[in-house]
Amino acid sequence: MTDILTAIAERRAAKRFDPTVVIPDHELRAILDAGRQAPTAFNIQHWRFVVISDPELRKEIRAASWNQPQVEEASALIVLCADVKAWAKNPARYWAAAPEKMQTSYASMIEKVYTGNEQFQRDEGIRSAGMAAYALMLAAAAHGYQSCPMDGFDFEAVGKLINLPDDHEIVMFVAIGKNAAEYPPHGGQLPLEETVIENRFS
Ligand SMILES: Cc1cc2nc3c(=O)[nH]c(=O)nc-3n(C[C@H](O)[C@H](O)[C@H](O)COP(=O)(O)O)c2cc1C
Repeated sequence: MTDILTAIAERRAAKRFDPTVVIPDHELRAILDAGRQAPTAFNIQHWRFVVISDPELRKEIRAASWNQPQVEEASALIVLCADVKAWAKNPARYWAAAPEKMQTSYASMIEKVYTGNEQFQRDEGIRSAGMAAYALMLAAAAHGYQSCPMDGFDFEAVGKLINLPDDHEIVMFVAIGKNAAEYPPHGGQLPLEETVIENRFS
């Protein structure tokens, strides 16, 4: 197991994967389970992880992804989706493990906050799935795999291929496997001074 700061510092987006590598089921399950533990607003857990195991479907998705090889070569391809209406689907169940009073109070807050606010509903789903994406990537690293976050694809075409429900959005892919090529030169990071703002923008 790689420690978390090393995994963060050493992670790179893999451009090619070894297509012969099979991730054992128990390991893939552990990686997906780590994604499931990511935080979400009001614990709504909007994310849905579509694992593309069918090789024919992978081919079709690759064709809709500007032919990017990771889509087919990755040992696991996860299409992260957001159920943007999850907030309205029996919200008390997101607090099922908490005392009944909390369940009722959260269900009512959820309804108040999301009702009629379509943009916010969508934004929250995207935010949550983004959290899960990085959790999946770090969990993959902990298990000795590399990953690539991806949004270079035709969202509408991929939605059709996976039968995306009307009230869901595709957020991104996370491709996981064993890196099989030298990483391309890195673009570099902006300095911390430009990234971090104290108190207010000037
Ligand atoms: C939302 C998102 C979408 C991305 N889409 C792609 C993609 O479609 N194909 C690809 O090869 N890399 C993709 N990347 C990887 C970025 O190019 C890469 O993370 C960035 O250049 C920084 O490099 P590093 O991850 O190796 O540090 C994506 C990254 C993010 C966060």
